[in-house]
Amino acid sequence: MRVVSGIQPTGSLHLGNYLGAIRNWVRMQEEITASGNGQCLFFLADLHAISMPHDPAELKSATLEMTAALVACGVDPQRSILFNQAQVPAHAELQWLLTGTARMGWLSRMTQFKDKSGKNREGASVALFTYPVLQAADVLLYQATHVPVGEDQKQHLELARDIAQKFNVDFVPGYADQNQDVAGVFTLPDPYIPPSAARIMSLRDGSAKMSKSDPSDMSRINLTDDEDLMAKKVKKAKTDPEPLPGELAGLADRPEALNLVTIFAALADIEAEQVLAQYGGQGFGAFKPALAELMVSTLGPIRSRFVELKSDRESLDAILARGAAQAREIASPTLKAAYDALGLIRG
Ligand code: TYM
Repeated sequence: MRVVSGIQPTGSLHLGNYLGAIRNWVRMQEEITASGNGQCLFFLADLHAISMPHDPAELKSATLEMTAALVACGVDPQRSILFNQAQVPAHAELQWLLTGTARMGWLSRMTQFKDKSGKNREGASVALFTYPVLQAADVLLYQATHVPVGEDQKQHLELARDIAQKFNVDFVPGYADQNQDVAGVFTLPDPYIPPSAARIMSLRDGSAKMSKSDPSDMSRINLTDDEDLMAKKVKKAKTDPEPLPGELAGLADRPEALNLVTIFAALADIEAEQVLAQYGGQGFGAFKPALAELMVSTLGPIRSRFVELKSDRESLDAILARGAAQAREIASPTLKAAYDALGLIRG
């Protein structure tokens, strides 16, 4: 089992990132430690971050802060390999090799490209368009078997599988022959998307996902928010005047209410039905303070660790340098196999 996943170091880590992905990174890390079988690689997708307009100084500090946030959430650099892409050139190299396999049509269908480029497609960076090829390289480079992500990354991972499959079929003799058992250059990765909390929505709009790029800070809970701010954001979260229903079906047309119940359930590690069994019939005047309290008690300790870690620049640099050295070593044979398969001479 090889677990690989990444996060962009833009803005700060929010509740959607945590519940949709990072918490599962930590859980998989624990599983692997307990079984003694497998490896986790987690990275800061700094190369992805340059696909949108950005401030270089901010990217640098956000990369270090996000590293601190991941460690605060429980990613343990002694047990998992934690690094940033820019220190492992194999990511950019493999991306180029894979652009020969990825099809224009596949990339044109990526909803994230359509969303992020908006009406200004002509003005979008080339990197924004080829971004999913880099994402494929990120996981294929390490022969990832499991990729824990939120729902919004599903399409990118399907593309990574398509690229891996086409590359193996096109460049590995015998791979496509059903009668032969030939290993491909790349393993086809499986996304792991949690059954609930895979798509946490904005606190201001139940039809938009909680996002680092939403201009309104009130739309998200950042793991760096202090207790008062968290409580304020929950209090101001958009809801409706109805009390909570006793059953989940009663939330079908109430996206904001459903989102808060989903968040409560995920933080308490229980089912949404159990939340409704307890709070059904009660209004948000009672539910919101309970949610805020739960949030503060679950995320508060993470925030304190984060505050401690983020000022220790030396330790953060050392974590990333060590992780990158380990990642480079694991990436090397796959990168070589990809060059060889394509007929590229490297001496
Ligand atoms: P990013 O940085 O946008 O998000 C990091 C992780 O958080 C998840 N996520 C959410 N989950 C639930 N609800 C939300 N509102 C929410 N918002 C974000 C994302 O699904 C993701 O798992 N392209 C990726 C980074 C990346 C990557 C990779 C991931 C680069 N290479 C290779 C996996 C494998 C991204 O921008 O995630």
